Amino acid sequence: MVCAVLFVMLLTTPVCASDDGLARTPPMGWNSWNIFQADIDEGKIRAIADAMVSSGMRDAGYIYLVLDDGWMAEERDENDRLVADPKKFPGGMKAIGDYIHSKGLKYGIYEDRGEMTCQQLPGSFGYEQIDMDTFADWGVDYIKMDSCFAENNGRMSSEDYALYRKCIEGTGRPIVLSISDFGNGAWAWGGKESAQLWRTSYDIHPWMDSIYACAETSAGNQSIHPAFNGLWQFAGPGHWNDPDMLQVGNLKDAEEERKEVANRAHFSLWCILAAPLMAGNDLRTMSESTGKVLTAPEVIAVNQDPRGIQGYKVFDDGDREVYNKPLSDGTTAVLLLNKGDEKADITVSWDKIGLSGTQPVRDLWARVDLGEFKDSFTARGLGQHEHKMLKVGRQGPPVPAAAPVPLEKYTVTRKGETYLSDLYYIWNAENAPAYDATFAGEPIRIAGRTFKKGLGCKGRSAFMFKVNGRADRFRAVVAIDESYEGEEKGRFRVYNEDFFANKVLWDSGEMTKDSPAKEIDIELKNVQILMLVLEDDDVPGNWADARVISEN
Ligand code: GAL
Repeated sequence: MVCAVLFVMLLTTPVCASDDGLARTPPMGWNSWNIFQADIDEGKIRAIADAMVSSGMRDAGYIYLVLDDGWMAEERDENDRLVADPKKFPGGMKAIGDYIHSKGLKYGIYEDRGEMTCQQLPGSFGYEQIDMDTFADWGVDYIKMDSCFAENNGRMSSEDYALYRKCIEGTGRPIVLSISDFGNGAWAWGGKESAQLWRTSYDIHPWMDSIYACAETSAGNQSIHPAFNGLWQFAGPGHWNDPDMLQVGNLKDAEEERKEVANRAHFSLWCILAAPLMAGNDLRTMSESTGKVLTAPEVIAVNQDPRGIQGYKVFDDGDREVYNKPLSDGTTAVLLLNKGDEKADITVSWDKIGLSGTQPVRDLWARVDLGEFKDSFTARGLGQHEHKMLKVGRQGPPVPAAAPVPLEKYTVTRKGETYLSDLYYIWNAENAPAYDATFAGEPIRIAGRTFKKGLGCKGRSAFMFKVNGRADRFRAVVAIDESYEGEEKGRFRVYNEDFFANKVLWDSGEMTKDSPAKEIDIELKNVQILMLVLEDDDVPGNWADARVISEN
C-alpha cells in the first residue's frame, strides 16, 4: 500500500534533483582534467581504474571515475550519436565504461551544453536527448556538463540545465549531473532543481593561491554578499557547492618539504566545505604521502557526514581562519588554518561553535585524542598552510548550525516597492556595488538631485538580485558618477538571469560623463534573477533608486 502511494506520488510530483537519492553526501571520485587535460586514452584510463582499486582510493570512497574533455571523435556518427575518438578509445566508450564498472567503480563522462566543448569537440546543443540516451546506453553514472560556447544557445543556464535534467530522467537511469559553468551563480538561479553539484569558481590551478581563491568562492564573500558568510546555506544532501576538482598531489609552488602540509591544507578545506572530492592527480604514480592525504579516513568522514552541512567561517582576519562544520553525531568539526606567511596562534572558543564548558578534542590528521579543554582550544605556532583539523564535543543530539540568511533579506517577498539596496545581492563578479552610496562612498547625486537609495558601482561590475518571479517592473535612474573626469564610456545593462542567454532587458548604450541620466522603467515577466552590469573598466556609475515593483 505504502509502495503504491509512493509510486503514484513519484509519477505525479516533480522530483527535485536534490531529492532523488543521488549524491546525498558530496560525490567522491577522480577526474582526468587536472593532470592529463585532453591527453587521455584507453590505456591510461584502465590503468587509473586499476590504481583506484590498488591504491585504496576506491575503498576510501572515491567511486566515480570521470573522463573529462578529449574523449570524443570530431564528428558524430550517421545517427547523430557521439562516438569515441577512434585512436584514443578504439574499443569505444561502452567498453571503457564496462571496464570501470568491473572494478566496482562508477562511470563519469564530460560534455558541454554549447555547440562545442571547450576543446572544440562536438557539444550537446541540439542533441540533448540523443546524447543523454547514448550516455545511458553506455552505462554512464555521472555527467559533468560544461558551458563553453553556451552563450550562443539563446537559453538561460536554468533552462539549459533543466532540459538536461528532463532528458536524463527520460533515460530512466540515475545519473548525477554536475554543472560546470565557471561559477555563474547556480546557487542563485536554482541549480539544485536540476543538478547535484555546481561550480562556484573559475578553473583551479596547482598552486596555493589558486586553491585558496577557489575555496573563497564557496567559503567567503567573493561570489555573494558578505552577509551570507559564503555559500554554505545553499548546500545540503543532494546539492553541493563545487569549488573545482582537487589538485592534491599536483602542487607546483610549494617547496618539496612543504608539499605535504600544503596538500593537507587544500584537502582539509575541501572536506570542511563539504566540497565534492574529485581527485585530479596521476594515481599510477601517486606518492605514499599524497595517498595518505587523499585517504585520511577521519578527515574524509567530516566531508561525508550525512548531516550535509557545509562548514562556514567563524573567524577570519585575512590570514588566520577558523571554520565550523556541525556533524550528525553531536560533535562538530573545526579547522584552524594559517594562510599567512608569519607563524601564528589560532584559537577557537566554544561559544563560536555552539558548545560550552569542557569539551574533548580530537586531532583528525594525527588520529589522536588531545584531551579535554575548557572554553576554547588554541593551536600554537602554525606556519603557512599549517592547520589543525579537529573534532570537538561529545556524541549526542546535533549542535545547531548558524542561522541562514532569511528569504526576505534577499528576495522579493511582499507587494509594492522593494529597493534593491534593501536586499543582499546573491551573486557578484568583479567590483561589488556599494549600497545607498556611490562606489567611493559619497551620496548619490544626479543633476542636482540627491538619491537616498541606490547602488554605486565601478566598472566592471556585475551582480544578481533574486527577484523570484515576484517583480512586475524594474525602475531606476542611471548616470555616470559626477566625480568622474575621464573620457571612458560606461554602459548599463539589465539582464534576465546571466550572461549565457544574452537576454538583455534594457541597455543604456554608451554613456559619457556628460550624458544626461537615463530612466529605466521596464516590465518584468517571470524573471527569477535580475543581473545588473556596468561596463567598462574604471568608470563609476550609479543605479539610483533601483527598485522592483510587485503588483501582487
Ligand atoms: C573547462 C572546465 C575544466 C575542464 C575544461 C575541459 O571549462 O572548467 O574543468 O573541464 O573545460 O576543456
